Amino acid sequence: MTNEDGKRRAARAAMRFVEPGMIIGVGTGSTVAHFIDALGERRGDIEAAVSSSEQSTRLLRQRGIEVVDLNATGELALYVDGADECDPQRCLIKGGGAALTREKIIAAASRQFVCIIDPGKRVDVLGRFPLPVEVIPMARSHVARQLVLLGGQPVWRDGVTTDNGNWILDVHNLRITDPPALESAINQIVGVVTVGLFAARRADIVLTGEAD
Ligand code: A5P
Repeated sequence: MTNEDGKRRAARAAMRFVEPGMIIGVGTGSTVAHFIDALGERRGDIEAAVSSSEQSTRLLRQRGIEVVDLNATGELALYVDGADECDPQRCLIKGGGAALTREKIIAAASRQFVCIIDPGKRVDVLGRFPLPVEVIPMARSHVARQLVLLGGQPVWRDGVTTDNGNWILDVHNLRITDPPALESAINQIVGVVTVGLFAARRADIVLTGEAD
């Protein structure tokens, strides 16, 4: 099974959580693109979607799914999104696609977070994938110095501006043995908008796209 097959299978499996009349929170990325394809086949069945990125908004609209503002929906019943890494406690690294802030907001505003990944993204300890941190542009160097003090090696994702007009630092060489503690420590750094560690609000269910 290729990674792409795993992504497609996980995305299709998430459809079992979709109920008629739902407004669904939709993440970002290549796995979510498969989920949006599947949603498109049931577009008459769902009410609308809340999107975590301009990229997903475009895909949703192309498939005839209405995109609504989170401020107009109240709490969502379901959020479906991918991840870059997932540990056995369902803590995640996200933000490879630079959409981490809106993803974290929708995850926080949803009762159930279903994460869809290919099996290769399961790890025992998070950190092999560089941890994305969205920063206010003027704070980039300050935040980078603080991240070094926390033991990481931040690298500016040069040329990338997020949908919110901010920049991304990818933090290498972290071995994240206590995800909630590191999430909290990075959240405290002035100039950080969001850290792509999803531990305080982690996935409720992880679908890996394996045969069973
Ligand atoms: C987007 O910012 C990310 O959080 C994605 O969810 C993550 O990068 C997974 O993307 P793929 O499904 O493309 O691997």
